[in-house]
Amino acid sequence: MKLSELNSFKVKDEKITCLTAYDASFAKLFDDCGVDAILVGDSLGNVIQGSENTLGVTMGDMIYHTQAVAKSVKSALLIADMPYRSYDNAEQTLKNAQSLMSAGAQMVKFEGGAEHEASFKILQENSIPVCGHLGLQPQSVIEMGGYKVQGRDESSAQKILDDALLLESLGVSVLVLECVPAQLAAKISKHLTIPTIGIGAGVNCDGQVLVSYDMLGINTGRVPKFVKNFLIESNNITTAVNEFIRSVKTQEFPTDQHSY
Ligand code: KIV
Repeated sequence: MKLSELNSFKVKDEKITCLTAYDASFAKLFDDCGVDAILVGDSLGNVIQGSENTLGVTMGDMIYHTQAVAKSVKSALLIADMPYRSYDNAEQTLKNAQSLMSAGAQMVKFEGGAEHEASFKILQENSIPVCGHLGLQPQSVIEMGGYKVQGRDESSAQKILDDALLLESLGVSVLVLECVPAQLAAKISKHLTIPTIGIGAGVNCDGQVLVSYDMLGINTGRVPKFVKNFLIESNNITTAVNEFIRSVKTQEFPTDQHSY
């Protein structure tokens, strides 16, 4: 998927598929299967580095893995995560985002809302495409008191909606919603003209993302409720990825069982 096609997916109500990748081989397989977007997620802190959270991931790590993934992505939109503390102020955000774009990313993603307004603005001024990330923000796992569903009460739900609208006004191209009630994600998706991509956010987002290791049943620890292991009923990884794509496009995944 080209960057310019993002909004047409929403307009024609075609769900966007996204998987994380951290190396050239998995990225090639996902790209060949036709996944619309590939995210070099800082979840690599968990699944590659074996850490409890993403806080130890560095810009050096993200550049290394983005370069590897970029070597084999031909069709998918390539998004790279900005790691913890790499977007504390506008100048730092611009410098680090430029490094990820030079490494082969077509878009950068970072977590948070209004508190990062200056960072969103500087990227917009410099025409660097941005993916927002609201709801559960794994880089704030300590402040959030664990990996908990966000936006369950009225005021926190309103704050997520307000942040989403702000991000859209600041030129953000697409928004990841993680671990929010399905009803809230549906409301946000309806209010925005940019697409939302959900993970633990119900079927009414404009697309779905999963950590690839999770959807292949490879886990070092906790398996969140929103994860489905697509390899269980498939003969091989390619079939599992094709099944993920099919299930997202037909809205068979996620079910209520994977939602809050
Ligand atoms: O780092 C990551 O893999 C992510 C996804 C969970 C959206 O941010």
